[in-house]
Amino acid sequence: MSGHHRLAIATLAVALGPLSALAGPGDADGAALAVACFSCHGPEGRGGGEIPALAGRDAGEIARQLSGYADGSIPGTIMPRLAPSYTGAEVTALADWFAEVAP
Ligand code: HEC
Repeated sequence: MSGHHRLAIATLAVALGPLSALAGPGDADGAALAVACFSCHGPEGRGGGEIPALAGRDAGEIARQLSGYADGSIPGTIMPRLAPSYTGAEVTALADWFAEVAP
């Protein structure tokens, strides 16, 4: 292999890393993200305790609440600390995923 080719492959490997982080709207994986919510909101967001269920709720409502926790307009105990770490695309993916789950 020539040195030129080796450089091209190394450059490609470096370029592929950040690509997933730059995923555009709609590319976030709601199913994978949602797993982080099950410990409190129940298996697949169906609830289980004091914490409200998310399954089958309106996607727009879930997204509005997550955005509200993130920007501080909706008060809470736990969600205001969690919500800011999600991008807009991730919030949409999460809301869409939970809305599709049968309650
Ligand atoms: C550590 C526990 C915990 C985790 C993990 C968690 N939540 Fe919550 N969630 C809560 C609590 C508690 C509330 C009630 C508001 C508050 O006190 O923050 C809540 C409220 C909500 C609400 C508003 C529900 C309503 O009817 O008012 C939404 C939407 C929500 N969470 C979405 C999510 C999503 C999506 C995830 C995963 C990314 C998630 N939550 C992860 C504990 C959690």
